[in-house]
Amino acid sequence: MTPPARPSRSLLRLLLTAYRPQLKGAVLLAALSMLAAVLEVSGITVLVLLGKITADGKTAYTGSVGWLQYPITLSLSQLVAFGIGTVILRLALQLWASWVEARLASDYTRQQRNRLFRRFIESSWESKSDVRSADLQNMLTLNVDYAVSVLSSLSGGISALGNVLVLLTSAMVLNPVFALGIIVTAVLLSLVLRPLSAWAKRAIHRYHDANIIYSREVTQAVMMAREIEVFHVGGEVKQQVEETVERTCKEQHASVLTQKLLVPLYQNFVMLMGFAGLALAAVSGVPHVEILGIVVLILLRISSYTQALQSVYHHAVGKSVFLDALAAAERKHTVGAYRPGTAEVAQIVDLRFDQVSFAYKPETPVLAELSFAIERGETIGVVGASGAGKSTLIKLLLGLHSPQQGQILINGVPLRELSRDSWCRRVAYVPQEPHLISSSVEANIRFYRPDIGLPAIEESARLAYMHDTIAALPKGYQTDLGVQGGELSGGQRQRI
Ligand SMILES: Nc1ncnc2c1ncn2[C@@H]1O[C@H](COP(=O)(O)OP(=O)(O)OP(=O)(O)O)[C@@H](O)[C@H]1O
Ligand SMILES: [Mg+2]
Repeated sequence: MTPPARPSRSLLRLLLTAYRPQLKGAVLLAALSMLAAVLEVSGITVLVLLGKITADGKTAYTGSVGWLQYPITLSLSQLVAFGIGTVILRLALQLWASWVEARLASDYTRQQRNRLFRRFIESSWESKSDVRSADLQNMLTLNVDYAVSVLSSLSGGISALGNVLVLLTSAMVLNPVFALGIIVTAVLLSLVLRPLSAWAKRAIHRYHDANIIYSREVTQAVMMAREIEVFHVGGEVKQQVEETVERTCKEQHASVLTQKLLVPLYQNFVMLMGFAGLALAAVSGVPHVEILGIVVLILLRISSYTQALQSVYHHAVGKSVFLDALAAAERKHTVGAYRPGTAEVAQIVDLRFDQVSFAYKPETPVLAELSFAIERGETIGVVGASGAGKSTLIKLLLGLHSPQQGQILINGVPLRELSRDSWCRRVAYVPQEPHLISSSVEANIRFYRPDIGLPAIEESARLAYMHDTIAALPKGYQTDLGVQGGELSGGQRQRI
């Protein structure tokens, strides 16, 4: 899993930054759910009025709804038709909202994955080499998935919020005293639950931190499987991982418990307030029983929507670590963006280091005022003590790092002024630890350069004394190295 970063910014700002491109969709979603909520209130009203005329043995409803005191008469068939109409319309709006929600999720995944991967690919070597392979992979899969789950729950939260607002407004129209009671309940509730909420938040963070350590230990155990076998330390590794599992599970227990406790506390508190409200109404006298029925139903709906809002909040808090890590990764790769030159190089005639100095950290210089020249056709070996700077020299030559002082001149042109594409076509590099892509031998030799044809690939394989070995593989140049790369020796892999 990705860095154990704590959200450095407030949750709201974090969410707004993470989902900025999705804001338009979110606004549409809010509008749709508020319309759906208006229809829900209408549905509830029709339901109660139908109940009232059935109980009274009448065929039409006559009366006024709310403090508007506007008298209305509605026949049974009018009420039924209106009720069915609201259901159909609400269903249509909800289906539309679901489509918007799904669209938000897939749009976010596409944008986030493409943007972060593009930043990684386009960033400088300094920035790239700092990334651990499992980290970026987790970032693009796990973190993006978590971010999508937060987005989905936020979409639900937007709908819930829209519903609460409309329901509250309706309650206000129908009976201001009751509506006020609901608002007071909500404020009291948030005050009562605040300490538990904060505790839950801390528990979620501790659980995530523990999880990250656990994930690192497992990744390490898999990567070092051979060393663990050779040094016969499996027992010790197992013990260490089990201790971490124990810590993780303790934190998980606390985090799940606090979240679960919030729900019954919430529900029963609302129930209590409901009792108090109705008792108060009974004492002070209620104008119309149907109004009371509508308001109670609205109250119940509000309570389930606010409960949904609360779980959205906890979900967002719990996953904010991952959103923060995504934002941090993007910031990091933007800083390292690579700015190549434009000069072309057709043939390397002469290569010179002119007073080149380089240090990874300012206090420890690696190369100091290094000058030398290499003529075309020369073969050079670089010899030196371990840590002397041989690999660093190669990295400068490859353009992975740039010298802090002095210049690397190709035919008299500074390396940084050359087009990256042009320079890379003149350079070959065999790393000490070769990696193969999971594709055919042909694709591995071509390595994403579509203009290199099969004859050139075979020719280079002959030059590297690999042609006969490749021809002897089950499918020759088409053999999949993802499956059979393991059958090649280290030297054979290097030569591919
Ligand atoms: N990414 C890095 N960040 C900071 N310091 C580094 C980094 N890579 C190498 N160094 C330091 O720079 C110095 C030169 O390293 P370099 O890898 O060039 O040595 P080398 O000559 O190739 O050694 P070896 O023969 O052991 O491969 C070393 O002291 C090393 O500690
Ligand atoms: Mg080296």
